[in-house]
Amino acid sequence: MATSPRTRIVSTGMYVPSRVVTNKDLEKIMDTTDEWIQQRSGIKERRWVTDTDTTLNMGVTAARQALDRAKLKADDIDLIIFGGLVTDYVFPGTGVLLQRELGFSSPVPALDIRNQCSGFVYAISLADAWIRSGQYKRILIVGSEVHSTSLDISTRGRDISVLFGDGAGAAIVEACDEKSAHIIDSVLHSEGKYAEALTLAKPSSNDHPRLALEKPNDLSIYPKMDGKLVFKNAITRMVEVIHEILGRNNMTPKDLDFVIAHQANMRINQMVLNQLEIPFEKTHHTLDRYGNTTMATIPITFDEAVLLGKVKRGQTVVFVAFGAGFTWGANLLKF
Ligand code: COA
Repeated sequence: MATSPRTRIVSTGMYVPSRVVTNKDLEKIMDTTDEWIQQRSGIKERRWVTDTDTTLNMGVTAARQALDRAKLKADDIDLIIFGGLVTDYVFPGTGVLLQRELGFSSPVPALDIRNQCSGFVYAISLADAWIRSGQYKRILIVGSEVHSTSLDISTRGRDISVLFGDGAGAAIVEACDEKSAHIIDSVLHSEGKYAEALTLAKPSSNDHPRLALEKPNDLSIYPKMDGKLVFKNAITRMVEVIHEILGRNNMTPKDLDFVIAHQANMRINQMVLNQLEIPFEKTHHTLDRYGNTTMATIPITFDEAVLLGKVKRGQTVVFVAFGAGFTWGANLLKF
């Protein structure tokens, strides 16, 4: 009797804008220092969009790279999962725009998800479930984020604006035999009671009319964050969810060859690894160069780690993320 399919990661791709914004550049715009930013977050520089970068075209570039590396064409994909917080249009979602740009000849479905920094982990879980059900065979996941145009790039907004970068990451997953290396399991969580701990409130459905131009000084057009609350919860939840996913698969942190953690803050990731007693060599960071690119951090960091030969086929890997919502989760896989 045929067994049900499993899911493997075929390829990844990434894109970051060419405009490098260093901590020194920010010192000229706001009351901050390179030392403060590096010490508190581990970030040295980030990429911010130029006039030609959009959520869509960054996502398209990352997706094309993933397709090229896998020697696949758009028509080899039968579902798109797209995530991004700030989209080209309020509606429709960017998934259909990506479908148009990539030139599909058939009307493949495009699903838009909004799970912030946990978006990639949510998307992998969803793609795996769909492939295991037999409904789809090959899925393109894209996370593309433009933060810089929404930030309060001034001393008033410095607690957030120094942390975020723009960029896109993509991954292609496909059905495989259960004997091949595959995604083993996923765990997802959310806790909406903390929604306001990291939020961008406007434009909002609460406003009548929604774009209230008569309130030009309304600061809710900028993201706001309770940084300490986010920090503490990120560590607790990422440690917890790694124990949860390993425990239910009869593994311990010692069984992991590599960890790809969401890139929000180097201190958060160091504390997570310390608590799990996972050596720092078993991870990779892009945070120092790209900042926090939300859903794109995991595919970008994984892509780089694979190209550098730090993660190899057949190894046991965990993806782990925590973000606004709060949302968090993990994927466990043999790569
Ligand atoms: N440059 C200089 N000073 C800054 C600053 C900046 N960019 N941003 C904030 N400050 C100041 C504050 O105004 C405050 O000053 P005060 O003490 O005079 O009021 C002080 O630094 C805050 O320091 P502290 O509270 O010790 O900072 P912290 O160690 O909590 O670090 C964060 C702040 C934002 C880096 C940290 O809370 C964090 O990373 N949180 C998690 C954020 C995150 O990961 N978000 C995304 C989740 S997906």
